[in-house]
Amino acid sequence: MKIASIVGARPQFIKCAPLSRELRKLHQEIIIHTGQHYDYEMDKVFFDELEIPQPDYNLGVGSGTHGFQTGEMLKKIEEVLIQEKPDLILVYGDTNSTLAGALSATKLQIEVGHIEAGMRSFDKSMPEEVNRVLTDHCSDYLFCPTQTAVDNLKRESIVKGVHLTGDVMVDALLDNRKIAERSQILDTLNLENKQYLVATVHRASNTDDRHNLEGIVDAFCELGEKIVFPLHPRTEKSLKKYGLYDRLIGKVKLTEPLSYLDFLQLLSRARRVLTDSGGIQKEAYILGVPCITLRDNTEWVETVENGWNMLVGVDKARIVKTAKEFEPGGEQRNIFGQGACKRISAAIGRN
Ligand code: UD1
Repeated sequence: MKIASIVGARPQFIKCAPLSRELRKLHQEIIIHTGQHYDYEMDKVFFDELEIPQPDYNLGVGSGTHGFQTGEMLKKIEEVLIQEKPDLILVYGDTNSTLAGALSATKLQIEVGHIEAGMRSFDKSMPEEVNRVLTDHCSDYLFCPTQTAVDNLKRESIVKGVHLTGDVMVDALLDNRKIAERSQILDTLNLENKQYLVATVHRASNTDDRHNLEGIVDAFCELGEKIVFPLHPRTEKSLKKYGLYDRLIGKVKLTEPLSYLDFLQLLSRARRVLTDSGGIQKEAYILGVPCITLRDNTEWVETVENGWNMLVGVDKARIVKTAKEFEPGGEQRNIFGQGACKRISAAIGRN
């Protein structure tokens, strides 16, 4: 089969690395990069470090409003698909690049495969939730990381083309865990094993609302713990816009966005993680790092049910209390499977 993989944002590059390797054993693959993420630390560093094949196309779409960004992608992806005529396109997760890829292909009657299908937060105010639901409803192959995802799709009457494969992020993590141990990030930041917390924030509901961002910033400052906080460009801009950046100086260790290997090492040696990222909730679970999620809901409900993840939202007092006291209660069951990339590659062409 000729497959066009469509990627555009940081977590998609990470997931594409192990899957691309498997796909190329059985199929022909081209990579289309929408250009949604474009800074070196958000984009090229992952291609270099994870040895992902260079994209065949970079559409250079960049930033903008949701309508502008998605619209530009639709136009440009369509042009490439008409020229390349793939049998199937693959999209990942829940970004604007995911939706644009799925919609362009569906309208050209090209089959769509969705990696991380069936995830739901049941919160339509999240742009990612809209992207997920719409992408699932125009997909022919729905590659689900968990049984919860399969059940979510069934509730929406999607049963055909559903494959329970496990999570491709597990493959990325297992491929790189040992290599990440060579990272010098702890020395560079002057940190000791389990003597610090790591934090990440980038969800629009947290970065684009001054009140929410202030709750998080003040909690970090009040905690009195060593916190390392790699800043997503969206978050850095908002902190400066709302006059909150300076509050963190001297209290929290701010860094640029880190490479995958550096971040993996930083996370695996942290005592706890504070995050609003979906992927990091999973990685923390697999690495056995207690996770405090700065949201009111999660798609990765099993991490909460198993006692390793606490949803605390953006209330300052709640963040501080949980970050000081949270101890995981449950056994770390295998939720996310193993070998997803092999299963996905083998399932393609056999719907
Ligand atoms: C996007 C995804 C989100 C994913 C996240 C991973 C959507 C709706 N959201 O959010 O699901 O978890 O990527 O990071 O697709 N920017 C830069 N340099 C870059 C990239 C972004 O400066 O390399 C800035 C731009 O000013 C942009 C802002 O960050 O306006 C937000 O970027 P955008 O791509 O819209 O969404 P993310 O917040 O990264």
